[in-house]
Amino acid sequence: MEAHDGHVIPALVTTKGSFVPVLSPENCGIDILDNGRTIRDFLDSKIKERGSADNEEPFYVASLDSILERHLRWRTNLPRVTPFYAVKCNNDASVLRMMSALDTGFDCASKVEIQLMLSLGVTPDKIIYAHTTKPLSHIKYACTHGVDMMTFDSEEELLKISLSHAKAKLVLRIAVDDSASKIRLSLKFGARLESVGKLLGRAGELGLEVIGVSFHVGSGCTGSLAFKQAIADARRVFDMGNLLGFQMSLLDIGGGFSGREDCQVAFEEFSEVINGALEEFFPPDSGVQIIAEPGRYYVDSAFTLAANVIAKRVITDDMDEHNDGKDNCPDRTMMYYLNDGVYGSLSCLINDAAHTQVEPYLNRVVESSEQRYRSVIWGPTCDSFDKVTDSCWIPELHVGDWLLIDNMGAYSICLSTDFNGFERAHIYPVVTAETWHTLNLS
Ligand SMILES: Cc1ncc(COP(=O)(O)O)c(C=O)c1O
Repeated sequence: MEAHDGHVIPALVTTKGSFVPVLSPENCGIDILDNGRTIRDFLDSKIKERGSADNEEPFYVASLDSILERHLRWRTNLPRVTPFYAVKCNNDASVLRMMSALDTGFDCASKVEIQLMLSLGVTPDKIIYAHTTKPLSHIKYACTHGVDMMTFDSEEELLKISLSHAKAKLVLRIAVDDSASKIRLSLKFGARLESVGKLLGRAGELGLEVIGVSFHVGSGCTGSLAFKQAIADARRVFDMGNLLGFQMSLLDIGGGFSGREDCQVAFEEFSEVINGALEEFFPPDSGVQIIAEPGRYYVDSAFTLAANVIAKRVITDDMDEHNDGKDNCPDRTMMYYLNDGVYGSLSCLINDAAHTQVEPYLNRVVESSEQRYRSVIWGPTCDSFDKVTDSCWIPELHVGDWLLIDNMGAYSICLSTDFNGFERAHIYPVVTAETWHTLNLS
């Protein structure tokens, strides 16, 4: 089977036979782009549609083609590593159904995420409950529903699990060097190597089964060598576990991979380092299953946000009465107010250290000869913290214009609130007819 770009996609042969039951226009409102229509055409038509319906609400367009492309890239570059998509990153139904159709596993952080995945028909063996500090009732829920794989990093957690899910298959999360990452998760999670022996011993005393090791090099990782060191550390823990009589068979290399095309270090470079380290420390004949928990890698570049200019103020240096705001004066600063901001889709600006700036662009071709103005772009709420960009140079906008922002799929919609009564942006999933055809034939 070949994708439309000639890419061979054996990984798409799923146990489900067809994609239609799990991913269909009916069950998640997918628009199929036929007759050569592009995402850009779709965006334009939605903007036009909103204009004529007096509806300026912000919206996303989510490209399922992009998710497929990222998946093919993953399978090509990390053939030994099975992705368990991190649901927390973006739990839109179209994303989850697409990932399920691609036959990935899922990393769930809570009872609700487990419930969600089970309700979409994902089997419990495809879920890892990858949170080391779990409420007791959530562990019980996992137990009742057959979700056995879960992580731990403390004695307290082992005690809770022994009381509520004695047959769990435990994965010991270790702290690793995450200094090359924008979000350092090992500050909060992961057992230090010095305490691993004691923890494994305690698991044995409690009659629990430890099957492997996990780590997370931190989200927004900028140095591939972090993976090499972490995989070497995991090998040491595997050896300790095996010595203590556990059947260590699973390595989980976590997330941390960028989802942007313009990232500092290409995915291929990370892959090369990871493959080399796996070859050295966990060669294929070790029989160890390798999984990962990518989040932003899959979804970041798939989502484009469209937001509307709902208000505008022109600030001139002197604010003098001779300036009627009409002359082509570059000294003025434009203040634009969008209907989405840091309390909505753009919460990444305050919550996600790996995504601290965005570059809104106009929904039209900008001629190089056009006058540009220093512009400050604000979100819609009555809070001065709600600022989208501090200063960018763009042509003059008018109330009712639309701005687009790319790379908005990760930790965006899932973190948005309805502060001040501004609703969450609607998501329109789209797929090209060619990709849709390819998926269904698989
Ligand atoms: C346990 C765990 N796994 C996976 C992820 C996903 O990380 P990323 O989006 O960087 O791939 C996170 C993010 O916080 C996490 O905490």
